[in-house]
Amino acid sequence: MHIAVVGLSHRTAPVEIREKLSISDQSMPECLRMCKNSEEIHEVSILSTCNRLEIYCLVKTPDGGIEAINKFLSLHSGLPQDDLSPHLFTFNQEDAVSHLMRVSAGLDSLVLGEGQILSQVKKMLRLGQENQSLGPILNRLLSQSVSTGKRVRSETNLGTGAVSISSAAVELAQLKLGQSLGKDELVSLETESVVVVGAGRMSRLLLQHLQAKGCSKVTLLNRSSSRAESLAADFPDLLVECHLLGDLDQCLCNSSLVFTSTASDEPIIDASRLKKLIRSNSLRLIDIGVPRNIAADVKGLDGIDSHDVDDLQEVVARNQEARQQIALEAEDLLKEEGRLFLEWWDSLEAVPTINSLRASLEAIRSEELQKALSRMGPDFSARERKVVEALSKGIINKILHAPVTHLRAAQSRQDRQDALHVVERIFELELQSKNDSSQIKK
Ligand SMILES: NC(=O)c1ccc[n+]([C@@H]2O[C@H](COP(=O)([O-])OP(=O)(O)OC[C@H]3O[C@@H](n4cnc5c(N)ncnc54)[C@H](OP(=O)(O)O)[C@@H]3O)[C@@H](O)[C@H]2O)c1
Repeated sequence: MHIAVVGLSHRTAPVEIREKLSISDQSMPECLRMCKNSEEIHEVSILSTCNRLEIYCLVKTPDGGIEAINKFLSLHSGLPQDDLSPHLFTFNQEDAVSHLMRVSAGLDSLVLGEGQILSQVKKMLRLGQENQSLGPILNRLLSQSVSTGKRVRSETNLGTGAVSISSAAVELAQLKLGQSLGKDELVSLETESVVVVGAGRMSRLLLQHLQAKGCSKVTLLNRSSSRAESLAADFPDLLVECHLLGDLDQCLCNSSLVFTSTASDEPIIDASRLKKLIRSNSLRLIDIGVPRNIAADVKGLDGIDSHDVDDLQEVVARNQEARQQIALEAEDLLKEEGRLFLEWWDSLEAVPTINSLRASLEAIRSEELQKALSRMGPDFSARERKVVEALSKGIINKILHAPVTHLRAAQSRQDRQDALHVVERIFELELQSKNDSSQIKK
C-alpha cells in the first residue's frame, strides 16, 4: 500500500485553472465515489479550497493510483490531461504525509499561517468519514494533521496576528489606494465608499479587517437578506447597510471599492454589466471568490481597477519574510508529527504476525487447559476452574508482552521485518490476514 497526493495549488496553477477544478460541497460525495470506484484506490479524501485542490489516497500501486486520479481530474475539469499535467504536483509516501502536515499548519498557504485552512482540513476529514471514503490509514493521517495544525498554532507564534485571504484583500485595497495617491504604502480606507458582496465566512473577516483599517461604513450585499442582517448585527460599531443582490448595479455606481466573496459558480460582475452603468468615479474591485465572482473581461476597462485572488501575491510578498522566520519555528514540530504517523503506520505491519502468534498460543492454552480440567474430574469446583483458567491466560499474556512490544516498537522497516520473520519461523505461524489491505504497508 502506498499514500499519494495529486493536486494543484496557487503555487502551481493560476486561478483560471484552479476554478475549473474546484469541487463544491454538493458535488463532493459524487467525486469521492468516483475516485473510490477505481480498483487502484483503497481510501480517498479531497481538499478543495480557493487556493488548492488536493486528492489524498491510499493506492495499490503508485503508478496505477496516480493515473486513476489524473484521469478523474481531467474528467472533472473537462481539461485534457496534457493541459492539466503541467499544473499538477504529486507526492508519495513520506513526502505526501509531510505535505499534508504543512498544508494543515498553514505553511503552504498563500497567506502564511492563515487559520481557515485548518477548518478546511477538518472538513475534508468529516466529508471523508460521512461518505465512507476513508479507511484506517487516511483517517489516522487526516486526524493527526488536524491535531498537528492545532499544535502548530498553539505552540508557535505562527497563529498570532489575524491573517487570512480577507486580511490580505483589505491590505491590497490599502496598498492600491496608497499607490494611486503616489505612496507605496498601505493607507487608511476611511475615505472609501465600500461594498462587500457576500455574507459568508470570508465576508465576516472582510468586515473585521475593514473596521480595523479605518472604515466606518460598509454596504453589504447578499443573495438572502437574513444572513446579511445577522452578519451586520455582529458589528455594532460599524455602520452596515444591507441590500439584496438585486441592488448591485446601484451599489456599483455609488461606491469606490467593492470586495466580492460569494460561493457563486458564475461571475456576478462582468464587463457588459459595468459598461451599462453610468458612473462618475473610478472603481476598484477585489475578488476573493474561487470560482471567480468577477469575470476576467473586466480587467482593462476604463476607470476600473480589478484584482483577483492571485493578485494578493503582491501584498503577501511584502510581509512574507517576517512570517517565513516565524514559520521556521514550526518545522521541527511538523517533522516530529510526520515521523509519529509513519511509525504508527509501520507498526501495523506487525499486526498479522501478532494476531497469528496470539491465536497460536491461545490454541495451545485452551487445548492444554481442557486436558488438565478433564484429568481433575468433577471434584474440581467451578471457582477453582476459573482460577486455573485465569492462571493460564495470565501466563500467555506475560509471555506475549515482550515480543509484542518489540514488534510494535519504533524501528527501521528492515529490523521489523527481520524480527517478524524470526517470530513467524520459530512459532511456525501461518498469517491468515497478511492480505488485509488496511493493515499492511506495502
Ligand atoms: N473559506 C475560505 O477560507 C476562503 C478563502 C479564500 C477565498 N474563499 C472564497 O470566498 C468565497 C466565499 O467563501 P466563504 O467561505 O465565505 O463561503 P460561505 O461562508 O459558504 O458563504 C457563501 C456566500 O456566497 C453566497 N452565495 C452562494 N451561492 C451564491 C450564488 N449562486 N449567487 C450569489 N451568492 C451566492 C451566499 O449567500 P447566501 O447567504 O444567500 O447563501 C453566502 O453569502 C468562495 O468563492 C471561496 O472559494 C474562501
